[in-house]
Amino acid sequence: MESVQAIKQRFGIIGNSGTLNRAIEKAIQVAPTDISVLVTGESGVGKESIPKIIHQLSHRKHNKYIAVNCGAIPEGTIDSELFGHEKGSFTGATQTREGYFEVADGGTIFLDEVGELPLTTQVRLLRVLENGEFLKVGSSKVQKTNVRIVAATNANMFQSIEKGTFREDLYYRLSTVDIHLPPLRERQEDIHLLFRKFASDFALKYKMPTVKLTDAAVQVLLKHRWSGNIRQLRNIAEQISVLEHNRTISAEALKAYLPTSGSNLPAVIKTSKSESDFSSEREILYKVLFDMKSDLNDLKKLTLELMKNGNSKDVEKNNEGLIQKIYGNTDEEDYEEAVEDDVLSIPEQTAVTPEISSKPDKYHFAEEIEEEETLSLHDKELELIKKSLERHDGKRKLAAAELGISERTLYRKIKQYDL
Ligand SMILES: Nc1ncnc2c1ncn2[C@@H]1O[C@H](COP(=O)(O)OP(=O)(O)O)[C@@H](O)[C@H]1O
Ligand SMILES: [Mg+2]
Repeated sequence: MESVQAIKQRFGIIGNSGTLNRAIEKAIQVAPTDISVLVTGESGVGKESIPKIIHQLSHRKHNKYIAVNCGAIPEGTIDSELFGHEKGSFTGATQTREGYFEVADGGTIFLDEVGELPLTTQVRLLRVLENGEFLKVGSSKVQKTNVRIVAATNANMFQSIEKGTFREDLYYRLSTVDIHLPPLRERQEDIHLLFRKFASDFALKYKMPTVKLTDAAVQVLLKHRWSGNIRQLRNIAEQISVLEHNRTISAEALKAYLPTSGSNLPAVIKTSKSESDFSSEREILYKVLFDMKSDLNDLKKLTLELMKNGNSKDVEKNNEGLIQKIYGNTDEEDYEEAVEDDVLSIPEQTAVTPEISSKPDKYHFAEEIEEEETLSLHDKELELIKKSLERHDGKRKLAAAELGISERTLYRKIKQYDL
């Protein structure tokens, strides 16, 4: 069995605290089994290394490892992402799609932020955990899969169970073994060690001398609350490494980088997602991707027309709507034409089928698969529009401004999705 020390080296894990070592030891012990593991701990404590260790030390290591951030996938698409769907199972499902549970057969799926799963998905997940069975969305054919599940959460699952947002039976199924990673403030001996490691990494990266803390600064570092844990410590080490001219960092200089609310005061508990959190950044990315895809499809249509008919006046006339849509300056009359020409009407053979398994990477992250799926993009766009309209009480002008599209485009999408 590989030693804890060797594992830490292999996975780039820094720290010597007993609690960290025990967590790694537990991961090593459970790895060869198929036991479900729930990794718990605040955000930024390093939960993502645990499923990787488990997968790499298991007999599944030559099969897929898929990491899914359950909190970042819109509720409307998550079942289809995880379990796949049948052709025609919902508007826009033009092709049968494999879900992660099918793709990862024989491998491991890491369900990050598992507490965010909708209740309906929880029912499906429970079934997979109990007998390896699942149904594609829109299908009644039972399929089998052999997947090991490691889940993680930073939420208090007992509270979620109490509130009725998480199924108790699923919780017990997922947490046969619980691996807890304590917050950084409870791993005092690791704080300075981690800072030195990050400072030296960033010095190398930015080709500057390594910053060094004075004794007084070390005391400030140790007393800080680190509510963002190791992720926050690394960010601060990076900022200081880049910005400080004087490479010896005094307590005062360090304090300037630390949020004032961070020193041993109770943590601020976020009840709702902030505008700048990860999921909304993803939403923006999806929107950009979707818009690009839509433009590209329009261009494809035009090019095809031109190839067929040459650069004649006819092409221009027949495609007035499209041309104006792509090059701007659309008038009200072209509106109907623009509707017709939207992405949903693209012939099936032009859709790109992603080659999920041809990537040479050791890990196949869920994100890589998602972004290539035309279908998911439709769902995501739908979700974005719905959310935006909800936020603005159905006021199209405000929603369009937020989405960065014209009111008319929004109107078109509303009609297209039958909202
Ligand atoms: N013990 C550690 N040593 C080095 N880097 C770490 C350690 N723990 C966490 N990190 C780094 O901190 C960041 C946050 O870790 P992550 O696993 O994403 O946290 P979580 O999933 O618990 O929010 C990552 O960049 C990770 O590489
Ligand atoms: Mg994480």
